[in-house]
Amino acid sequence: MPEAAAERALEGLAATEGLLADVVGHGPRAVTRPAGQTLAAGGKRLRPLLVFCSSPTERPLDADLVAAAASVELIHMATLVHDDILDAADLRRGRPTVVAAHGASRAVQVGDFLFARAFSVLARTGSADAVRVLAATSLDLSNGELLQGRAGHDVALTEDAYLERCRMKTASLFAASCRLGCLLGGASAEVERRLARFGTSVGLAFQIFDDILDLTATADATGKTRGADLRDGTVTLPMILAMRNEPGLAARIRDAHRGGDVDAVCAELAAHPGTAAARERALGFIADARDAVEAPLDGIDPLPLAAIADGVVDRYS
Ligand code: IPE
Ligand code: IPE
Ligand code: MG
Ligand code: MG
Repeated sequence: MPEAAAERALEGLAATEGLLADVVGHGPRAVTRPAGQTLAAGGKRLRPLLVFCSSPTERPLDADLVAAAASVELIHMATLVHDDILDAADLRRGRPTVVAAHGASRAVQVGDFLFARAFSVLARTGSADAVRVLAATSLDLSNGELLQGRAGHDVALTEDAYLERCRMKTASLFAASCRLGCLLGGASAEVERRLARFGTSVGLAFQIFDDILDLTATADATGKTRGADLRDGTVTLPMILAMRNEPGLAARIRDAHRGGDVDAVCAELAAHPGTAAARERALGFIADARDAVEAPLDGIDPLPLAAIADGVVDRYS
């Protein structure tokens, strides 16, 4: 990443951490303590980074941009806390999930608290357009989780249905992060549209890689338990492409859903050409993301955006 842009982004991320710690720390202890632990456990802060990198480099890092960056991370954390209930996940960011440590009721309350905080922070900008963007993406996220729940254990899930789900549950928030940077940074509607396309494509690639890592990477590398998707019946792109190539696999995947030998199926899928094909699909979305930021962007530097897109490839956490 070019030095000036990197410095600006790092400065923005540091201010965002301060704001996040402040807003997550204010409220009843029953929710601020688990929420604070989720925040302190780390995370890549990719969505706040997208906000800063999607605003013109000359634009000062004002309170509105920092509020937008904090709001997308808060929405993200809220969805993680709720997602871990739905997925029965035990590990997140290398620590026990809120649901594993405190139970489902508390995890619902913590997620609700984080959602509410996201909107109260963004409302500080006074931008109705910004709040509209975050509201629309929140709706996408909830619809995405609904689609995933309905498709649970469905080994006949199509690639298109999988991608539509990923667009809603993951890519929508990436696109919204880019749009907020544009909106609050004063970019044109045309540039906002192109950066939304960039965010969508990076988000789709990101989710595909996450689904590959669920099969291939250790908990040390990702901070999450390997094979979680197989265990909870979530059918993902590497599985879909592997089953297309070798229909007999469906029975072993179904067996893993029912508590069979998840590690063995993970190992088989990790080495399968279907997983390599899923990686190729993800690379196609990265190419599309890079294409979206080819032409001039109203003073937004394309290089950090291209570096973020490339960084999604073969990431480990
Ligand atoms: C996890 O997102 C949820 C997915 C969209 C796959 P991240 O991998 O960005 O999670 P953190 O914030 O770094 O923990
Ligand atoms: C992404 O899907 C979940 C959200 C967008 C909330 P996953 O279920 O694959 O995410 P992880 O693997 O739990 O982080
Ligand atoms: Mg999950
Ligand atoms: Mg996952």
